Amino acid sequence: MESFEEIQSKKQLLTDEDKQRLSLQNNRMVSEHKAKLLEIEAKKHWDLFYKRNETRFFRDRHWTTREFEDLLNENSTCTRTLFEVGCGVVACDLSPRAVEMVKRNPQYNSDCMRAFQCDITTEDVFNEVEPQTVDIVTLIFVLSAIHPEKFVVTLRNINKLLKPEGIILFRDYGLYDMAQLRFKPGHKIAENFYMRQDGTRSFYFSTDYVENMFKDAGFNILLNSYIYRRTVNKREKVDVPRIFVQAKAQKQD
Ligand SMILES: C[S@@+](CC[C@H](N)C(=O)[O-])C[C@H]1O[C@@H](n2cnc3c(N)ncnc32)[C@H](O)[C@@H]1O
Repeated sequence: MESFEEIQSKKQLLTDEDKQRLSLQNNRMVSEHKAKLLEIEAKKHWDLFYKRNETRFFRDRHWTTREFEDLLNENSTCTRTLFEVGCGVVACDLSPRAVEMVKRNPQYNSDCMRAFQCDITTEDVFNEVEPQTVDIVTLIFVLSAIHPEKFVVTLRNINKLLKPEGIILFRDYGLYDMAQLRFKPGHKIAENFYMRQDGTRSFYFSTDYVENMFKDAGFNILLNSYIYRRTVNKREKVDVPRIFVQAKAQKQD
């Protein structure tokens, strides 16, 4: 795991232009009033996001079983329960529209799947899923959409849902990902936390931060690393480097 010094040296790898961009973001921060409003209206913003984009923005993630081998059930004879936060299987999302779109998918089978609207930062999830009944939780590009002050409480809720030795698979935006560097002044809410134009928000994680929050929520870290990929769209002549974080953690006894 990396120390503060290592994060600093990661910063030194940034170009002068990148460093200047990060520093300019501090010139005009999102006001406290606006930041509070964004938190109160998080559900509205995500639901409007799905009204605008429907299922076009977050495509089927064919990479999940390649990148998270634990999702394959090859050597197991028993049925396992998977809980996907942020829209199966049991799945929840803050946005009622996102849940409806999951349910309308032809592959949705209500005999063995259940999708429901829920704010995972609250205890509402326990009205839908019994504690200690889930084998695996996936939390993929969802925590970054939540206020950092609620990360640990969210992970503690998930910890409660897991059976003893249950695992959580986590993937999200990494520190200094190009999407973070691209934010103009007027978008930064707090350290590594930003608002997008559409009112949705995004946090950028260092592996050090990931380790601490999982430990605070009662998990043992099994894997935790940066993932370097490229986003390529030939038609739009886009080819940019991306930085993600990926972790696997197990509920502590
Ligand atoms: C960036 S999208 C990721 C969607 C999907 N997991 C994927 O990777 O394609 C973030 C998702 O988190 C959901 N979300 C945001 N805050 C949440 C919360 N407090 N509880 C549950 N879901 C939340 C949003 O509605 C949105 O669907």
